[in-house]
Amino acid sequence: MNKVRLGIIGVGGMGGNHARNVIQEKISGVELTAVADIAPDLAKKFPDQKGFAAGEDLIKSGTVDAILIATPHYSHTPLGIAGLQNGLHVLVEKPISVHKADCERLIAARGDKKLVFAAMFNQRTDPAFKKLKHLITSGELGEIRRINWIVTNWFRSQAYYGSGGWRATWAGEGGGVLLNQCPHNLDLWQWLFGMPKSIRAFCSFGKYHSIEVEDDVTAYLEYANGATGVLITSTGEAPGTNRLEVTGERGKVVLENGHLHFTRNEIPMSEFSRTTKEAFSAPPTWDVNIPTQGSGGQHNEIIQNFIDAIQKGTPLIAPAEEGIHSVELANTMLLSSDTKETIELPLNSATYEAWLKKKAESSPKKSK
Ligand SMILES: NC(=O)c1ccc[n+]([C@@H]2O[C@H](COP(=O)([O-])OP(=O)(O)OC[C@H]3O[C@@H](n4cnc5c(N)ncnc54)[C@H](O)[C@@H]3O)[C@@H](O)[C@H]2O)c1
Repeated sequence: MNKVRLGIIGVGGMGGNHARNVIQEKISGVELTAVADIAPDLAKKFPDQKGFAAGEDLIKSGTVDAILIATPHYSHTPLGIAGLQNGLHVLVEKPISVHKADCERLIAARGDKKLVFAAMFNQRTDPAFKKLKHLITSGELGEIRRINWIVTNWFRSQAYYGSGGWRATWAGEGGGVLLNQCPHNLDLWQWLFGMPKSIRAFCSFGKYHSIEVEDDVTAYLEYANGATGVLITSTGEAPGTNRLEVTGERGKVVLENGHLHFTRNEIPMSEFSRTTKEAFSAPPTWDVNIPTQGSGGQHNEIIQNFIDAIQKGTPLIAPAEEGIHSVELANTMLLSSDTKETIELPLNSATYEAWLKKKAESSPKKSK
């Protein structure tokens, strides 16, 4: 089959990297034929590709079979819809949209199911997360009882927030750490553990930076089976921590610093509690170190998988439809914090859209 003709819309930080990786042939079966960026100087950095100032013009140009959208989040929805409606395969950066209602619109635009529609959740390629998923789906860890994830290693300086007018504004980005850095963790959370039934969250807005959106979050999540979870994230804390601890009936897994450690209960904890005659004992355990190597193929693996899905029907690592879940988690955390209430899921997408619109309208920083 001929190479897939790819167009990248938005060739700033991330899109520029994707473009260079495709040009350097780190991905097979694809050629970069076009780029689009509203910043004319950026598109000119790719002289061998057809350059466009508007993503919509690239989409209608007939020069591409597929697009990769790497623009600021709000524009993922209109560009994604335009791409799908013009018969193009679409790979969209995370988050797939800023709020749940836009996710619904974007997902509904894929009328033709032959079109491949994927999301850039590159951390799903990390062997440690893949292994943890296997431990859960195989039943090895048993029914999950508690999840604790501290993800405070997303440190960003004030200079970072100053590097793009759209960043860290309600109108330009639609949120802070939950919409920019944490979509990866929120996606992994729902991929590994599924969606909770309710969320109560506490967000601090501009706690560490001169920004109007959240840069520090503590969220409490409850599941239908009674399992609970706490997610803590921040872009202001250094040195940060990235520690995921999952307790199931059959033991506890800790993932930190690339090491996956499983303390395995010889007898599931609830069964032990019910059956032991001893008042102060706990289930005997085995220590299992689970070796994993490297961090996986990350962004290039997702692009390769997207191309393979187009050419060979390879199943997607991250179907874009699944991207609605991380957005719903982020939206619910922000709304819960603002209303000081526990919110039951599914989130009412219209309620959240109206809330966000008000935030954006009342923002002194309306830049996009
Ligand atoms: N998967 C990852 O690990 C990862 C990492 C960083 C960023 N991202 C995502 O990539 C997206 C872009 O982030 P970034 O850090 O590269 O931002 P950036 O500001 O560096 O780049 C965005 C580019 O898009 C261009 N642009 C803006 N609106 C446009 C439009 N309507 N049409 C065409 N071009 C437009 C800008 O001129 C800019 O060059 C965000 O959604 C972000 O979440 C993902």
